[in-house]
Amino acid sequence: MSPFRLTRTLPEDATDAALRADVQRGLTGRPKSLPPKWFYDAHGSDLFEKITELPEYYPTRAEREILLARSGDIAAATRARTLVELGSGSSEKTRHLLDALTDLHTYVPVDVSESALAQAGQALAAERPGLDVHALIADFTAELTLPDTPGPRLVAFLGGTIGNLLPAERAAFLASVRALLTPGDALLLGTDLVKDEEVLVRAYDDGAGVTAAFNKNVLTVINRELGGDFEPAAFDHVALWDAGHEWIEMRLRSRTAQTVKVPALDLAVDFAAGEEMRTEVSAKFRQEGVRAELSTAGLDLTHWWTDAPGRFALSLSVAR
Ligand code: SAH
Ligand code: TRP
Repeated sequence: MSPFRLTRTLPEDATDAALRADVQRGLTGRPKSLPPKWFYDAHGSDLFEKITELPEYYPTRAEREILLARSGDIAAATRARTLVELGSGSSEKTRHLLDALTDLHTYVPVDVSESALAQAGQALAAERPGLDVHALIADFTAELTLPDTPGPRLVAFLGGTIGNLLPAERAAFLASVRALLTPGDALLLGTDLVKDEEVLVRAYDDGAGVTAAFNKNVLTVINRELGGDFEPAAFDHVALWDAGHEWIEMRLRSRTAQTVKVPALDLAVDFAAGEEMRTEVSAKFRQEGVRAELSTAGLDLTHWWTDAPGRFALSLSVAR
């Protein structure tokens, strides 16, 4: 058993305050929206793991295929001694990378989901004697303070999760990632690619309804944490392709005219019949766009790998 530490960087009351502020802003805004990080309580993290196994949800399998083929190249190019993974979830695919990074000293998984971190971190520390696992409960869109560990440092951001940030958030995020690196350190970034609309929409609206349950879980979180009386069955899951922005948009559509109360915020929120509330975007990318966004943040793209059908890309970039 190697060392395993789980550090909470945000006190629980700060998390609660952030949830309140986000829900207040989102439910009183026009159109209504909710930020996606609140999907991931323990149940949400479990539902996401089920999504990754759905026949329609190809990104996880595509990214795993690339990691299996390219982890040796990534290790040779980076010689990383510290791997920081943002939004690490179950760390399942990361195992291929951990196997290949022979010089690795410390793995720092970062996630808002304490349950996912505790499970994944404990298992990894038990399996890999000699690897220091230092898990951080933190919001990767806020300022991160990393443990003082040996370089070179490799930051991994997998799963296409960068697509869940809006363009302005993405630019700020990439700049903050660059600030975690010294010149020569690297970023490994997973991006889902623009493709046939039907394939994209099915990945976010599966036949078994798992994604619908995942989307509605944010209502359950608000009910539990803020005393809300959302009735999940009174909303329909909607996934649509926005061709202008090149992103999938996830929404919850109110089936009827209804009023929802959120006592902790002293809010009564009216929904019109058919009114839609945005819960997430999942942007899809092209190589030139990724290269340009990285470059603006001070990162030079050095490698671009895709799965065989070209659905998903993993890129490696180096801090200038
Ligand atoms: N990397 C995994 C999980 C992707 S799902 C994979 O590729 O399968 C997105 C992950 O990011 C979830 O584990 C979620 O809890 C986490 N997450 C979402 N928003 C976050 C935020 N703002 N800060 C930290 N973690 C976040
Ligand atoms: N990072 C994942 C993605 O954009 C998150 C995700 C997958 C997701 N399916 C979802 C989020 C359904 C909300 C609803 O692909």
